[in-house]
Amino acid sequence: MSIKLAVLVSGRGSNLRAILDAIASRQLDASVEVVIANRKNVGALDVAREHGVPAVVVESRALTKEQHEDKLVAELERRQVELVVLAGYMRVLSARFLNHFFDASTGLYSIVNIHPSYLPAFPGANAYEDAFNAGVTESGITVHLVDEQVDHGPILSQVKFARLPDDSLQSFKDRGLAVEHQLYPAVLQKIAHEGLQVVAKEAVKQ
Ligand code: GRF
Repeated sequence: MSIKLAVLVSGRGSNLRAILDAIASRQLDASVEVVIANRKNVGALDVAREHGVPAVVVESRALTKEQHEDKLVAELERRQVELVVLAGYMRVLSARFLNHFFDASTGLYSIVNIHPSYLPAFPGANAYEDAFNAGVTESGITVHLVDEQVDHGPILSQVKFARLPDDSLQSFKDRGLAVEHQLYPAVLQKIAHEGLQVVAKEAVKQ
């Protein structure tokens, strides 16, 4: 079964590109109905346009959180999105927003996020830097369902990667990003095929 996604972005869009490439090569049975950025001039909007996907800016500047999220919800509902995919989206979503994507049959929100650490280690906006500066010998990537807390919620999949002795921050990040680009499309494919409910239940069992 194919699933209708919306991807929310704030930055360069390398995960968005990985998702769109996986769809193009039929490794992911999904469609990206819309890519929404909260500011203009971000690389991810160009990635969307290159792939012929609607690229929309719902600017957060000058709006209250409530006003901004109301506009987001209107856009997402208009496009009949089934799963909201956060890919480098730098704003925290309110409980009010989450409730629009609440699935009463599972008690879950249909919103996924990718975070560049092995959660619960190193939540926050600078996870690569924080893990690297803490001197870890390995780190990881987490795909999880979103809940009311930041970088928190049922974990759908986690993969570890090594920090090598001669790593720079950049080479450490590059190794992690390569993992991100494999993991996110793979988890989305599992959701597309098995449904969020089944995938999340398995996650809870782990
Ligand atoms: C990724 O490292 C992702 O894990 C984090 O934000 C970064 C986004 O990168 N949430 P990109 O815009 O997908 O290239």
